[in-house]
Amino acid sequence: MSKTPKTLETRGMNAVFPGSFDPITSGHMDVLTRASRIFDHVTVTVMHNARKRSTHLFSLEERLEILEEATRHLPNVSVDSFGGLLVDYMRQQNRSIIVRGLRAVSDYEYELQIAHLNRQLGDVETVFIMAATRWSFVSSSMVREIASYGGEVDEIVPQASARALRLKFADVQRPE
Ligand code: PNS
Repeated sequence: MSKTPKTLETRGMNAVFPGSFDPITSGHMDVLTRASRIFDHVTVTVMHNARKRSTHLFSLEERLEILEEATRHLPNVSVDSFGGLLVDYMRQQNRSIIVRGLRAVSDYEYELQIAHLNRQLGDVETVFIMAATRWSFVSSSMVREIASYGGEVDEIVPQASARALRLKFADVQRPE
């Protein structure tokens, strides 16, 4: 008997890179670019909970716009969104590979738990891609924090995110 479930063999090398992307950072872009070289196609999917009040800085539409612009140069990457369980999205899209980025050992425990749960809930595999060490300290929450005080984030996010952050915090004055 084959060890690999038939469904995994037949769904092709198309992966899903899920996340909140509030907003997408250079670390995310690094993982996505690496994934786009490995897989035939990668869908970057903004996961949102339509029933939960959003605590995000950017609306779903804004996050999708930023992602569209930031990924335009990657021909085998598309952008999507889903409000629900990731495994339901995977099933709906007939995808079986999830890509997640790892920055440091501290990410591992959380990611391991989610990967195991997702495999239990659905017929999916999670592939981890290590972001380059120069991005190991970058997170969307830190980026939001820096930008909210009028700090410079151009080095750690793609241009589309930097522009959107500047617009969002246009009224913030930095002390002399
Ligand atoms: O960028 P993030 O916030 O680390 O991404 C986490 C995300 C959105 C991928 C994860 O929370 C998720 O998959 N949410 C969708 C709901 C779901 O499937 N939850 C169960 C995971 S076990």
